[in-house]
Amino acid sequence: IGIMPYFTTLCVYFLMILNPVMTNTITEDIEVLVFLPQNNSFLFSYARVAPAIRYAQQKMKADGNQYSGFHFNIHFENSDCVNDALFTLLDRSCGQKPDLILGPVCEYEAAAVVRLASHWKIPVISAGALATGFGNKKTEFSHLTRIAPSYVKMAETFTAMFEHFTWKSALLVYEDDKEERNCYFTLEGVYHLMADYTIKTYQFSEEDPLNVDDILQNIYDIEVMIMCMGADKIREIMLAAHRRQLTSGNYMFFNVELFNSSSYGNGSWKRGDKYDNDARQAYASLNTVTLLRTVKPEFENFLIEMTKSIEKAGLNDCKDCGNVNMFVEGFHDAMLLYAIALHEAMKSGYSKKNGTEITSRMWNRTFEGIAGQVSMDVNGDRNGDFSLMAMTNVEAGAYEVVANYFGVNGTFQLLPAFNIDHFTLKGRHKEYPEMPDKACGLGVSALTGVIVGAVLGTVMLIAFYFFRKNYRITIERRTHGEECDSGKHRQLREDSIRSNFSAA
Ligand SMILES: *[C@@H]1O[C@H](CO)[C@@H](O)[C@H](O)[C@H]1NC(C)=O
Ligand SMILES: *[C@@H]1O[C@H](CO)[C@@H](O)[C@H](O)[C@H]1NC(C)=O
Ligand SMILES: *[C@@H]1O[C@H](CO)[C@@H](O)[C@H](O)[C@H]1NC(C)=O
Ligand SMILES: *[C@@H]1O[C@H](CO)[C@@H](O)[C@H](O)[C@H]1NC(C)=O
Ligand SMILES: *[C@@H]1O[C@H](CO)[C@@H](O)[C@H](O)[C@H]1NC(C)=O
Ligand SMILES: *[C@@H]1O[C@H](CO)[C@@H](O)[C@H](O)[C@H]1NC(C)=O
Repeated sequence: IGIMPYFTTLCVYFLMILNPVMTNTITEDIEVLVFLPQNNSFLFSYARVAPAIRYAQQKMKADGNQYSGFHFNIHFENSDCVNDALFTLLDRSCGQKPDLILGPVCEYEAAAVVRLASHWKIPVISAGALATGFGNKKTEFSHLTRIAPSYVKMAETFTAMFEHFTWKSALLVYEDDKEERNCYFTLEGVYHLMADYTIKTYQFSEEDPLNVDDILQNIYDIEVMIMCMGADKIREIMLAAHRRQLTSGNYMFFNVELFNSSSYGNGSWKRGDKYDNDARQAYASLNTVTLLRTVKPEFENFLIEMTKSIEKAGLNDCKDCGNVNMFVEGFHDAMLLYAIALHEAMKSGYSKKNGTEITSRMWNRTFEGIAGQVSMDVNGDRNGDFSLMAMTNVEAGAYEVVANYFGVNGTFQLLPAFNIDHFTLKGRHKEYPEMPDKACGLGVSALTGVIVGAVLGTVMLIAFYFFRKNYRITIERRTHGEECDSGKHRQLREDSIRSNFSAA
């Protein structure tokens, strides 16, 4: 007699707890394969990024919300930025294929993995694969979702500025390491998007001594110079430009610094040498495009946890490395985005094995990421927010964010520190001299073809790379054979060789 009401109460109580869970939670095991480099010289190494993935996993479990029924079996595999990820994916997929792939970040490695995964209809989410060619989601990159803003998204900042300030011409100067080619791909995004402007490119190889005279010779009929290279080389160029009186407002200088934004700013001109004073004055005309960082209260706890993990891994050897970067945030948010899409798809009766359906549900949507709102465009690429930094106090050599660009609505927002005078070209003729003949240049459509082809040709390239260790020498030799006076498009030609491979 005494037990029945007690039991009923207990049952009701139990149901009350279970009810929201039962109506919303879906239980599922998800096999996740993650490709991250063990090598800590990468900002997206295992030791830096894995804690963020685990953080997202644990948070979803602990929250007891609709995603707590998802059980992620996460397997971390090495990515060496060449072949490791592709071979591991092949080997592991002989048995059971993964339901989700996170990474790789490196462009060439990602191309191969994404191509195979798309063929198998497995969703891939990467905070890398930022090159322009990956934007082609019609065929071979169909299952790729890019959770960090690509280089083309970054380039929107430049088109917004060019429009706002009515600039017409740019010189793109970049250093090419011929391996990961981050600077090549960064400025490729700008080149791709700025088809309506007069664009000249100048590339030099890492090993070559910097020929500042040759570079600055190209600037005279140009308004804006956009650079991507190591900090010391930027300083060298800025010092040379200053000596030639190109830094008095008659030219605009920009550099792109996407992954190391926190360390950029005050003091980057400073080296403690006798050129510091000149460098400070030269940098008054150098502006930096960088990622816009947002912070919200939940981010604090994430930051503390990530810092702890990084310290535990013994990585706190430099100031910047402790910071949460775009890759760390991105892979955290990748877990959330997948969970949202999977939950929605399963509620609509699809299985986790329908990668096409899940992928399509990750695109064209906005959700709350760890550091703020994340907005994915209809093509499955994240819309990017970027900041423009400029020296606002030349005496102190101090930088500030003077404007922001919001990719989601294409707005270029000026901040109080913005000074129009700083961005007004001075002492220029209205007439622009004719461009030198472009016998050696590539048309935009040709370039686009080459670029798409380059990424498409990667599987062939990797095979070539693997079997012919001397591939670089081969290509170098071929390039030498080409009769091209300036040599400025050498790199593009190497790519066209790559795309010829893919066509073969
Ligand atoms: C890590 O990567 C850097 C730069 O790519 C390279 O110099 C270094 O040898 C690598 N270390 C290992 C252990 O592979
Ligand atoms: C970030 O930038 C600073 C200053 O330019 C440089 O010393 C540091 O090595 C960079 N960090 C990484 C991880 O690239
Ligand atoms: C996956 O979902 C799509 C709809 O997005 C559907 O057309 C297709 O048949 C599904 N595939 C499988 C294997 O269920
Ligand atoms: C994207 O989402 C919006 C609303 O969120 C919708 O109106 C639009 O049709 C979607 N576009 C595509 C291509 O699915
Ligand atoms: C640079 O330092 C000044 C003070 O010296 C400070 O007001 C400013 O916010 C700093 N800017 C950045 C970007 O750190
Ligand atoms: C554009 O988006 C940003 C960030 O979401 C917002 O702060 C800004 O007000 C928006 N601007 C316009 C004109 O809608």
